[in-house]
Amino acid sequence: MTGTPTVVVAGTAEVLAESVAARLVTRLVDVQSAGQVPHVVLTGGSIARRVHTALRESAAVSAVDWRRVELWWGDERFVPTTDPERNERQARKALLDGLPLDPARVHPVAASDGAYGDDVDAAADAYADELAAAARPEDHGDVPTFDVLMLGVGPDGHVASLFPEHPTLHETRSVVAVRHSPKPPPTRVTMTFPTLGRARELWFLAAGAAKAQPVLGALGGAGPLQVPAAGPRGLERTLWLLDREAAAALPDDLPRRGSP
Ligand code: 6PG
Repeated sequence: MTGTPTVVVAGTAEVLAESVAARLVTRLVDVQSAGQVPHVVLTGGSIARRVHTALRESAAVSAVDWRRVELWWGDERFVPTTDPERNERQARKALLDGLPLDPARVHPVAASDGAYGDDVDAAADAYADELAAAARPEDHGDVPTFDVLMLGVGPDGHVASLFPEHPTLHETRSVVAVRHSPKPPPTRVTMTFPTLGRARELWFLAAGAAKAQPVLGALGGAGPLQVPAAGPRGLERTLWLLDREAAAALPDDLPRRGSP
């Protein structure tokens, strides 16, 4: 049901990554079979790296027509193009460089040595413009409706680069610059809450014991200003895809599905 998150627990981070990769292939094939070009939003961080690697190594990856997939990033670290910290670079190395993508459908945020130099506000505005240009009349807004949007979860409950108690949590623009991020690097570009809410399927991904408390907070009624992961909801489905450690603090009576 829309708005009610579904929790799915995998035994280990590795099984989680493989199951997310499989779920993504299925989702993309479904959307393409319906004649649509799927819009996918990638995340950064360690779980993203695991998912990207699992996808690259999965035989099913070739079931997707990668030339007909639009790729976006929910947030980006504002560093130079070749900096290994860059989410785009991590995704390219782990997965994208090996896929037959249409370069015109891959939408990275500008780097700090890119078209807008070190002007992070200009980079954020340009990303907002690129999203707006991709929005169709049926999207009724300034961003396309995403088919899948993935979000890692920080130990403090942040998602994308939306950090607890940070002014960006109140933003109504679709994409904004972030300064003084508590997670390095300090300067970032992020989609805001309204944009994260424009996904048909929103998948939170979390593995490891450090995520048990933010997962509990987000699913247990914390406010989004304290635990940003409590904020966004998918338009059709919200999934919490966890490993056993990240799910460890959830109450026993919370419905969940699991792999053995
Ligand atoms: C980033 C991210 C960030 C990340 C979480 C979880 O650029 O840092 O997009 O939101 O997804 O911090 O990261 P881990 O999986 O590494 O804990």
